Amino acid sequence: MRIIIASDHAGYKLKKSLIEFLDKKYSVKDFGTDSEESVDYPDFGFSASEKVAQGEFDRGILICGTGIGMSIVANKVKGIRAALCNSVEIAKLSRQHNDANILVLAGRFMNKDLAVEIVKTWLNTEFNGGRHKRRIDKIKYFEMK
Ligand code: RB5
Repeated sequence: MRIIIASDHAGYKLKKSLIEFLDKKYSVKDFGTDSEESVDYPDFGFSASEKVAQGEFDRGILICGTGIGMSIVANKVKGIRAALCNSVEIAKLSRQHNDANILVLAGRFMNKDLAVEIVKTWLNTEFNGGRHKRRIDKIKYFEMK
């Protein structure tokens, strides 16, 4: 699985910790930012989301301070279903029910251990399809209009 990960300054530390974990098991592209110097999350979130939407990467992980800015950005990109997850259970459901292709985390409100558990679950949970596919198809239809 090809994964792209990006953050702003507020997500930088958590992103680095996650890369250490992910690098052992997956092919991960770090798309910035590269320090805790203040930057604007749309500059990283839009480009990373577009790369997932275009199929260059299978999944994306975006991190900002609250996760809200990155969620807003990612969900404006056609084909992206970004899920801001603060628990393992929500992460699991975001895959099973929503087929989320981007996971968003709140860098300022999440410790590393919980983030790793969320990421593990999110990467290893399949979409359930069925009635959930019908709902996703409605989103896709809306995007085509
Ligand atoms: C940056 O200070 C902060 O606003 C950003 O990381 C994010 O939380 C925005 O939603």
